[in-house]
Amino acid sequence: MDGYSPIVVKDSDEFFLLDQRKLPSEKLYLRVDTVEDVCKAIKEMVVRGAPLIGITAAFGVYLGIRDAESKDEFLNKLNKSIKCLSKTRPTAVNLFFALDYVKKTIDEFFELLPLEKLIKKTRACGFNLWEEQKAQDRAIGEFGAGFLKGKKRILTHCNTGTLATGGIGTALGIIKTMFKNGEIEIVYVDETRPYLQGARLTAFELKEEGIPYKIITDNSCGMLFRKGLVDAVIVGADRIARNGDTANKIGTYCLAAMSKRHGITFVVAAPESTIDRNIESLNEIPVEERSKDEVLKIAGIQVAPKESDALNFSFDLTDANLIDAIITEKGVYQYPYEF
Ligand code: MRU
Repeated sequence: MDGYSPIVVKDSDEFFLLDQRKLPSEKLYLRVDTVEDVCKAIKEMVVRGAPLIGITAAFGVYLGIRDAESKDEFLNKLNKSIKCLSKTRPTAVNLFFALDYVKKTIDEFFELLPLEKLIKKTRACGFNLWEEQKAQDRAIGEFGAGFLKGKKRILTHCNTGTLATGGIGTALGIIKTMFKNGEIEIVYVDETRPYLQGARLTAFELKEEGIPYKIITDNSCGMLFRKGLVDAVIVGADRIARNGDTANKIGTYCLAAMSKRHGITFVVAAPESTIDRNIESLNEIPVEERSKDEVLKIAGIQVAPKESDALNFSFDLTDANLIDAIITEKGVYQYPYEF
C-alpha cells in the first residue's frame, strides 16, 4: 500500500491497521475482523495516539455489531463492544469521546431506523470522526504556524502526526504546516522511551515529508536549551483538564519545566475533543501504567539485570502555568485557561 495511512478500509468492508510496532523497518498491515481484535490492537500499541485511538475504537464498535440479526442483538453487542473498548487505554480521553459519539448517534436513531440502516450509521461514525479529525488537524496547523511565526528550531516529543490522528497530525501537523511555509530550520525529535514513538514514528514521518530533523535522547533538552538551539517546544496531549493541566507522553512535564526555566515557548496542540471539561485539574486525570518489560527491555531485548523491578508510567502531568498556549481547531488559548 502507498503512503502510511494508519487505517485502511477496503470496499469489501475489510479493516486493516498499520502495525506501528513494526515501523519504520516494516510496513505491515494487520487485518482486524472483530471488536476483540481492535481492543487487542489498541492495548498492544498497534495503533496509538489519542485521536487515532478514538477513531479506531469507533470502527471497533462497528466490527462488534455488524453481524447483529435483530435490534436486541444489536444493542447487546453495542454495549459489549463499548465496554471492551473503554478498558483499553485509560488516559486518552478521545477514546471515551469517540465511544460517546457512537452511543449518542445510535440513541438518536435507534427507534427511527431499521437494523440494516443502524448498522450503516454505526459504520459511518468512524468515517465521520476521521474526516473531522483531518479538518481539525489542518486548522490546528494553521493556528499553530501563525502563533509560532519566526520560530524555526522546534523540539517535539512522542508522535503526534498522521500515525497518531489519521490527518496531518496535531503538534506534528503544526510542524508540517510551518515547513510548507518555509519556516522550519530543524526539528529535534525526542526518542521517547520506552516505545520510541519519536525515534521510530516521528522520524519516519519527517523523513517521508522531507523535513530536516535530528533525533535526540529524552534527557537532552537541558543541554539543547542551554546552548540556545531551540526556539519552541510543541507537544500533543492525551487529556486536558478544564484549567489547562495536561496529560501527555511521559517526559512532557520535564520538557515544560525546563522550557519555563530557559524562557522557551512551550505549546500543546490538540483537538477540542482532548479537552475533558468534566474534570477540574490534573488530580483527576487517570494515568496509565504499562508493563515493566517495556522499560527493562529495548526492542524486546532485556537490557536490565534479570528480575529488576521497574516503574512505567506511560504519561505525565503538566501544570497549566507551564504551558504558554494550547492550540485547538478553534484557535489559540493562552494561560490562564478556562475551558
Ligand atoms: O502511548 P501513545 O503513543 O498513545 O502516546 C501518544 C501521546 O502521548 C501523544 O502525544 C498524544 O496521544 C497526542 S497524539 C496527537
